[in-house]
Amino acid sequence: MRKKVLVTGGAGYIGSHTVVELFNAGYEPIILDDFRNSDESVLKGISQIIGIKPELLKCDVCDTKKISKYIKENEICGLIHFAAYKAVGESVENPLHYYQNNIEGLVSVLKVISMNPEITFVFSSSCTVYGEPVGQKEVTETTEKSIPTSPYGYTKWLGEQIINDVFKSAPGLRLMSLRYFNPIGAHESTAIGELPLGKPNNSNPFHYTDCCGAT
Ligand SMILES: NC(=O)c1ccc[n+]([C@@H]2O[C@H](COP(=O)([O-])OP(=O)(O)OC[C@H]3O[C@@H](n4cnc5c(N)ncnc54)[C@H](O)[C@@H]3O)[C@@H](O)[C@H]2O)c1
Repeated sequence: MRKKVLVTGGAGYIGSHTVVELFNAGYEPIILDDFRNSDESVLKGISQIIGIKPELLKCDVCDTKKISKYIKENEICGLIHFAAYKAVGESVENPLHYYQNNIEGLVSVLKVISMNPEITFVFSSSCTVYGEPVGQKEVTETTEKSIPTSPYGYTKWLGEQIINDVFKSAPGLRLMSLRYFNPIGAHESTAIGELPLGKPNNSNPFHYTDCCGAT
């Protein structure tokens, strides 16, 4: 039997590709999403690739009670947390929106993990935690974190700090932050890709628009 991994934001850009790769690696991915920046058609795309429709827990990631209930009823070995807002510019215009969803969502899933310490937890952090390193052309895994340049960046910076503090209080927990840079492209099948609602927030759609005049 496949081990189950809950993927919050699993209908989003990175989440949907992770769902496919988890399936390919022998796991059973379960998607938690409320489709505020995605569409249920993504599930169809995923099932075209992996041959089955992944299970869906349609809910707000801030709904700790609903997630706890689901985890009580299902044996989950891992939780990967992608569900968050991710647009730097939008976070400058509406910081409270970002702090609320990104911090409250993280605290919600960490509460669930604290009650279920056997679950491995992975946080989708970002290169924004490096700020703008002075005198360095590139950052590496040993580069120190710096001052983020946007509220979005601060939600990731603070998110990592919250995870560190929770770990210090309970060192038996299995917690990890991964700092992504800007992913681009789509699955080779083209059944899934970046399909944001409204204005795209990643670099690739903008480059594509600039070069090709396409939308
Ligand atoms: N795309 C990038 O360049 C990039 C780089 C580094 C880190 N990240 C981080 O990776 C994660 C995923 O990024 P993405 O590009 O796939 O974004 P995305 O917007 O495509 O996916 C996020 C998904 O989370 C869902 N979601 C958001 N808030 C939710 C909530 N409260 N409850 C339930 N579902 C909710 C959205 O509906 C969406 O499907 C984010 O945390 C983002 O900050 C992204």
